[in-house]
Amino acid sequence: MTAPLLRARGLARDYRLPRQRLRGPAPVQHALIDVDLDVAEGEILAVIGESGSGKSTLARLLLALDRPTRGGVEFEGRPIEADRRRLRAGTGIVLQDPYASLDPRFTIHDTVAEPLRALRIPGDHRRLVADVLARVGLEPDRAAQYPHELSGGQRQRVALARAIVHGPRLLIGDEPLSALDVTVRAAIVALLRELNASLGLAVVLVSHDLGLVQHLAARVVVMHGGRIVESGPTGAVLGDPQHAYTRRLVAAVPRLPVRSIDA
Ligand SMILES: Nc1ncnc2c1ncn2[C@@H]1O[C@H](COP(=O)(O)OP(=O)(O)OP(=O)(O)O)[C@@H](O)[C@H]1O
Ligand SMILES: [Mg+2]
Repeated sequence: MTAPLLRARGLARDYRLPRQRLRGPAPVQHALIDVDLDVAEGEILAVIGESGSGKSTLARLLLALDRPTRGGVEFEGRPIEADRRRLRAGTGIVLQDPYASLDPRFTIHDTVAEPLRALRIPGDHRRLVADVLARVGLEPDRAAQYPHELSGGQRQRVALARAIVHGPRLLIGDEPLSALDVTVRAAIVALLRELNASLGLAVVLVSHDLGLVQHLAARVVVMHGGRIVESGPTGAVLGDPQHAYTRRLVAAVPRLPVRSIDA
């Protein structure tokens, strides 16, 4: 068996909260508790769970945007802190909030080209950026514009373009589609599938949208209170949930089995 693309073991993150009283220990929030996770090459894995269950904390730790309190992550078989360039070159991230994730001072071209510059990727960056903008469905003249001139959906497409412009093997999306309307969302979903099928791009998709998860992900992990409480093939987990929490989550979605993003 080949090693997974990404492997997390015993991952934990405690947040120290503001002290309530002058004396005594500061309270600690256990945002992530002992998480083991493998992401195989080319797979689409969804992470679901209620608000506050630790999904974003996990996503940040997987890409070394935050440091674990305990445990570690390997990418391509090596600890992620050991080789930041390899991690950066091999991964892309789209965050939850398209407003916060783009620098207002940068044009769209400069924003999308940033990984190419940072990684010193040779070639015609203008061409590469134009190609990727076309791929995510943005017109070429957007390149000269600034984030404030774009809609929320367009910004999220810019964020996606920046996340894939350097040809990563793994994309992590933290609610990457929740700011988009239905038609744009369907187009981005189609794009993710196409990147997955044609380039073997692995995707870790954090999402509240179980319809989307069912449509896109082959495997799903369910988080609750900072732990992974259930995982397995999407059809099995959502169709026949074993954990009481997953059952509640699935039951909260009306008509889940027939809901489809591109219907
Ligand atoms: N910087 C921080 N400082 C203190 N506590 C934090 C911090 N970031 C997250 N937390 C806490 O850690 C827990 C997990 O938060 P996280 O953002 O990972 O949840 P989430 O599953 O992504 O939720 P959502 O679906 O709302 O995005 C929550 O209780 C949250 O309040
Ligand atoms: Mg979150």
